[in-house]
Amino acid sequence: MTSRLLFFFFLFLCTVTTLVSTVSGALSCRKSCGDIPINYPFGIDKSCGSPQFSGMLNCSSTDLYFVTPSGSYKVRSIDYDKNTLVVFDPLMSTCSTLQPNHDFKLSDIQNTLIRPSYDSVFALLNCSNDSPLHNRYQNLCFSTAGHSCDELYSSCTSFSVFNTTSPNGNNTERATPNCCFTNYDTVRAMSMSVLDCSHYTTVINDGKMKGAVPIDWSYGIELSYSAPEIGCNACDKSGGTCGFDLETEIFLCQCPNNITTRDCGGVSDGGSNSTKANYATLFLVMLVSFICAIL
Ligand SMILES: *[C@@H]1O[C@H](CO)[C@@H](O)[C@H](O)[C@H]1NC(C)=O
Ligand SMILES: *[C@@H]1O[C@H](CO)[C@@H](O)[C@H](O)[C@H]1NC(C)=O
Ligand SMILES: *[C@@H]1O[C@H](CO)[C@@H](O)[C@H](O)[C@H]1NC(C)=O
Ligand SMILES: *[C@@H]1O[C@H](CO)[C@@H](O)[C@H](O)[C@H]1NC(C)=O
Ligand SMILES: *[C@@H]1O[C@H](CO)[C@@H](O)[C@H](O)[C@H]1NC(C)=O
Ligand SMILES: *[C@@H]1O[C@H](CO)[C@@H](O)[C@H](O)[C@H]1NC(C)=O
Repeated sequence: MTSRLLFFFFLFLCTVTTLVSTVSGALSCRKSCGDIPINYPFGIDKSCGSPQFSGMLNCSSTDLYFVTPSGSYKVRSIDYDKNTLVVFDPLMSTCSTLQPNHDFKLSDIQNTLIRPSYDSVFALLNCSNDSPLHNRYQNLCFSTAGHSCDELYSSCTSFSVFNTTSPNGNNTERATPNCCFTNYDTVRAMSMSVLDCSHYTTVINDGKMKGAVPIDWSYGIELSYSAPEIGCNACDKSGGTCGFDLETEIFLCQCPNNITTRDCGGVSDGGSNSTKANYATLFLVMLVSFICAIL
């Protein structure tokens, strides 16, 4: 009975040691892209960060991009305390530039893990009279920080082109197309083509918007994310970087010298004590391997 138990115990140990020794050296995680720090749950290298966020960020030389089905958006900043990141769509129209319109789409997994926060206001411009936002769904439009969406037509050089002379040629009666401040849920539920608005821009209601003119608003999208809690803290505190095994998606901690399934044993700087601990583990690993070989 006891020998049987012992056998399974060693079998377990063998599996763990084999696992750890095979993945050793497989992780190499960059900790920043340009001047933006890359921490859990994000990763820009294979098997770094959380597997669920894998492939969402792309670091090309010094620029970080958030990759979505509708394109890559430049990451301006990541706030790891607030769990938010700010992205900017270079193809989006702003108060100063008008660009051909395109859609904003996230994948299903992005919609559950990382999506525009309620401080991100979508301004839908040049909406037709048939737009659902002008009819059945009028209540999805709101005013933001005391501003109405029409201000974009009256004070932005880019959007004033939407002001057209009214059909009867009466120049004192300019027709201003419909406009709507709404949130991401509206855009997600109804695509841009259903909304029937030719352009959009996004503004972050960051507290400085009240009383500011549209040219001074912050254009961009603030995304709010939730990181799966998988014990990355212990790894992080001990000086490691959180990652995962590509095949099994098991959590791995990349330490300065090795890779573990927990943390770096509380040794972040290689003092003499940690060297001793390293030798002790090495001895243990060798002992277990020896017993494995016998079994
Ligand atoms: C990341 O960017 C590089 C260079 O811009 C590009 O070649 C690559 O396809 C991108 N990867 C993804 C996943 O978008
Ligand atoms: C505004 O929308 C109408 C369709 O409702 C479209 O024909 C027109 O080209 C748009 N204006 C601009 C400047 O894109
Ligand atoms: C556009 O129309 C709005 C509302 O009618 C008006 O206040 C604004 O001055 C117009 N802008 C231009 C450039 O015609
Ligand atoms: C133009 O529109 C204004 C305001 O609606 C109106 O007072 C005026 O009579 C109109 N002029 C013509 C020629 O239709
Ligand atoms: C090594 O461990 C001893 C106690 O075991 C401790 O007093 C000492 O500060 C440690 N040295 C380092 C470099 O961590
Ligand atoms: C491997 O990681 C463990 C933490 O579980 C640590 O105690 C040990 O010193 C490390 N071994 C080597 C050889 O770096």
